[in-house]
Amino acid sequence: MNRILRTTGALIASLFFSAAAFSAEMPGADPAQLWNYITKVSPYTSWSYWPDHQGMQRGRAPHGPKHKVFVNDIALMSNKVPLPNGSIQVKESYSRSGRMMAITVMYKVKGYNPADGDWFWAKYTKKGLARPSGKPRGCIGCHGTRERNDFVLVHDF
Ligand code: HEC
Repeated sequence: MNRILRTTGALIASLFFSAAAFSAEMPGADPAQLWNYITKVSPYTSWSYWPDHQGMQRGRAPHGPKHKVFVNDIALMSNKVPLPNGSIQVKESYSRSGRMMAITVMYKVKGYNPADGDWFWAKYTKKGLARPSGKPRGCIGCHGTRERNDFVLVHDF
């Protein structure tokens, strides 16, 4: 009996701590925290692609001629809009010759910007300098043409 209690207790404790670790792990709506998350805590290059948008793809203006879009598991598991909080999409933009030019990110943060789908937007240089970030009108205006698809352009829900 004691053993069962101890095991159950340990299980509950580990569930509690992993849930706490998960929420502590997610970055705030902040460009430096988000960059740290996608490059160190959970490197986006180990994430997945949308099933219908795998690997290098042709892109349109303003993002450059070629790109790859990586998505985290929270986004990938979702088959409907809106995407769950914590969803992240990372796009690498490439020049025609295959040089990586910029990294643009969309990160769903609960309550951050309810009028426009709660996305935190950022465009980074390869070194992680964010310009612009937050709620840039440019990003929202163009992606907003697909508001019913939760502002996502490369994948249809
Ligand atoms: C003029 C329109 C336009 C603007 C402005 C724009 N985007 Fe996009 N974005 C696109 C298009 C079109 C795609 C689909 C991929 C492609 O064709 O390059 C896309 C794809 C993306 C993706 C991949 C996920 C998805 O939604 O399909 C991310 C991430 C992204 N954009 C982030 C940003 C950020 C951050 C900004 C602002 C700094 C921004 N975009 C500004 C048109 C735009």
